[in-house]
Amino acid sequence: MAISHDKSNEIPLPIPFKIHYFRAKDSLFRIILNFAIVKMIELKDISKLSIEINKIRADFPILSRKVNGKSLIYFDNGATTQKPKSVIDAIDNYYKNQNANIHRGVHTLSQEVTVAYENARATIQKHLNAKHAHEIIFTKGTTDSINIVASSFGKKFISKGDEVLISAMEHHSNILPWQQVCEEKGAILKVIPINENGELIISEYKRLLTDKTKIVAITHISNTLGTINNVEELIALAHVKNIPVLVDGAQAIPHMSVDVQLLSADFYVFSAHKVFGPTGVGILYGKEKWLNELPPYQVGGGTIKTVTFEKTEYADLPLKFEAGTPHIEGGIGLAAAIDYINEIGIKNIAAYEHELLVYATEAILKIEGVKIIGTAKEKASVISFVVEGLHPYDVGVLLDAQGVAVRTGHHCTQPLMNFYSIPGTIRASFAFYNTKEEIDQFILALNKSIQRLR
Ligand SMILES: Cc1ncc(COP(=O)(O)O)c(C=O)c1O
Repeated sequence: MAISHDKSNEIPLPIPFKIHYFRAKDSLFRIILNFAIVKMIELKDISKLSIEINKIRADFPILSRKVNGKSLIYFDNGATTQKPKSVIDAIDNYYKNQNANIHRGVHTLSQEVTVAYENARATIQKHLNAKHAHEIIFTKGTTDSINIVASSFGKKFISKGDEVLISAMEHHSNILPWQQVCEEKGAILKVIPINENGELIISEYKRLLTDKTKIVAITHISNTLGTINNVEELIALAHVKNIPVLVDGAQAIPHMSVDVQLLSADFYVFSAHKVFGPTGVGILYGKEKWLNELPPYQVGGGTIKTVTFEKTEYADLPLKFEAGTPHIEGGIGLAAAIDYINEIGIKNIAAYEHELLVYATEAILKIEGVKIIGTAKEKASVISFVVEGLHPYDVGVLLDAQGVAVRTGHHCTQPLMNFYSIPGTIRASFAFYNTKEEIDQFILALNKSIQRLR
């Protein structure tokens, strides 16, 4: 089932190519031949990929359903991803065979499911290459994880006149919690500007990192523009001044490999539902030293060592941050999703999705009056665009009538819409189960929609 995208595969060169290559004295001729050979190898890879994609698509039951009488073309992966059978089965199995509350139960079911839940934590630790399993906190999702950090970090480390640094391309979930904490503490929210392509202006970032900056909160990949930020560099620059960094990885985890130790991220957050797992569960990774220092966000059952009416002693990590009965089947389902993508290989996924991005970008740009919003050099498989004279909502409705699911609107990034002076965009976001054939159908549907609306 794994997609092989190994460029080192040994495709025997056709004999005439070999002879010409060795005889060629002219370097330009060699370059052209090399290019032809590379293209042949790429073509072989692509055909191999598409064969495997059909197998992969069969793992996602929803992909075979019809919408408005047409085969579903699901290009709204930025909002949420579809679930493979292995994830659905893991949740189904939990309720059919394992259902019990975790931790503190002496009976078999409770112990079995505690092991399953803690194994899920270990799977996520390994996937992120976190140093310790207790640095992985189960939360409700990205928004919840950011709220936890903003609130707890704010309580302890942010005071009047301090600064919190975010960027102009943040999702509302990585703006509002910081805005709120700044209002409460009399601190100042500062914003790293972007250029027209939707890339951070690094010179401005450096200028904004001051002695007053208490924390930087930045997205790894923009959900609207697709821009991939060089978070390794951003973190290194902040660390020179001992400023911790929270990375919003909601859009990165499904598309690229993330090593929190390599990045040296202080906090890294994401949602399960955007990485082929269930809704209502997510992850807060935090470096042990930070999580130990932060006060608990919510308190209650599960977060304690001892309680008297006078005083409470809190539990060690990770339980200190996991108040109440957690989303047990969610954690188990997330681990099944991570196992699934690792079976395919995240590098294979990234390479394949990049092909989809390039293919779709070229096709969209051929349509008259279409402008892509977000043209960064480093981009994930997200294309936001506007069509001259048409409202994104109208285009979205007509695409849906033809079985194509895209997202329209501000994508929870209103400041970004203000920057580009637009009310919203149409966003097509691809996952590894999408195909070039679907992109062709989408382009046809888009052309039809535009013709109807003009
Ligand atoms: C970059 C980014 N951050 C945060 C979020 C919020 O995620 P959730 O709604 O799963 O908490 C999203 C969701 O679209 C996102 O794309």
